[in-house]
Amino acid sequence: MVGQLELYTDSTIHKKIPQTQYLGSKQKLVKWIIEYLPPCDSIFDAFSGSGAVSYAFKKIGKRVICNDFLKSSYYYVHAFIENSAVRLSEKEILSLLTPNQKKDDYIEKHFTDVFYTREECRFLDNLYVNIQNLVEPYKQSLALASAVRTCIQKMPGGKFRSGLLRYRKPDFPHFRPKFTADIKNTFLKFLTGYNQAVFDNGQINEADNDDIFNILPRIKVDAVYFDPPYGGSGFDYERDYFFVELFTSYYGQIKAFNGKTKTYPIFKESGFNKKTQLHASFLKLFESASHIPIWLISYNNRSIPSYNEFIDLIKKFKPKINHYEKNYAYKVGNNNALKEYLFVCT
Ligand SMILES: C[S@@+](CC[C@H](N)C(=O)[O-])C[C@H]1O[C@@H](n2cnc3c(N)ncnc32)[C@H](O)[C@@H]1O
Repeated sequence: MVGQLELYTDSTIHKKIPQTQYLGSKQKLVKWIIEYLPPCDSIFDAFSGSGAVSYAFKKIGKRVICNDFLKSSYYYVHAFIENSAVRLSEKEILSLLTPNQKKDDYIEKHFTDVFYTREECRFLDNLYVNIQNLVEPYKQSLALASAVRTCIQKMPGGKFRSGLLRYRKPDFPHFRPKFTADIKNTFLKFLTGYNQAVFDNGQINEADNDDIFNILPRIKVDAVYFDPPYGGSGFDYERDYFFVELFTSYYGQIKAFNGKTKTYPIFKESGFNKKTQLHASFLKLFESASHIPIWLISYNNRSIPSYNEFIDLIKKFKPKINHYEKNYAYKVGNNNALKEYLFVCT
């Protein structure tokens, strides 16, 4: 029988998505994760983020359901996991760049010299209105995913924090040419990448945008992959990605922003941010997944709850746990002696 890893590296399925730069992305770990996936036909990627792991599952022929509570992340998986055939034509791509009289100045007005230059903000305002004209939902998602990825590419560390324009001065120690690269070319690069990543794996795959605690009880699959926010990592996905959430979910609607960072009140509660919530959230998560036979869980040695507490929580529902570990440095954050874990639970 052909193993999962052989299927993944099969040169006939050479499809790939552009580099993700997502906080906590497992793009560089997918081969390692796939290697330990027990035989199964269907899998739920419960915290899909950039979609990199869902994409690997799709490549090895699984029926994939994926979910993320952020709208800006949902567009990735709607565009290249659920979508098996729809691509943007060259004409449609050009139509996205055409100046549109109906463009608003929402981004320009609120974010000029905050994250982007006036010209870049104008480009985003124009892009937004052109995307609304696409109508076909997968085409819209391909364009929105590319817009989101473009916005993130220009941010140092890929997060929306204050005082970021100074990074764009070539003499700044952390300067990177991608911060000042032409926004149109960056967008076209990602759009071409996502367009080419669309393929059919012969399954009906599904992308969802829901809170994990709402969706999990109704999901019927052989296996689930959990890559939750790592408690204690300092990532707060809704805050860190607030600008792309604004762009994709609340364009034109929010008019009042806080201070220099221009954040706004956070609407969604992750359940995995506050240290005091983590134990209860994982217990609820595992309880809600008790009907799914196989669990694959990513974790690391700095996360809260601690390793032993975490294993005890899993053991309440799954008697057999295989543990794999790897030294792994994420691009962002303090990576000293960081170990990545993968738990395979049945
Ligand atoms: C570690 S990241 C996943 C990274 C992903 N595996 C990848 O390779 O890109 C965790 C994800 O969980 C999502 N998330 C956090 N709380 C959630 C919740 N309550 N329901 C659904 N998704 C949630 C975040 O938006 C984030 O994308």
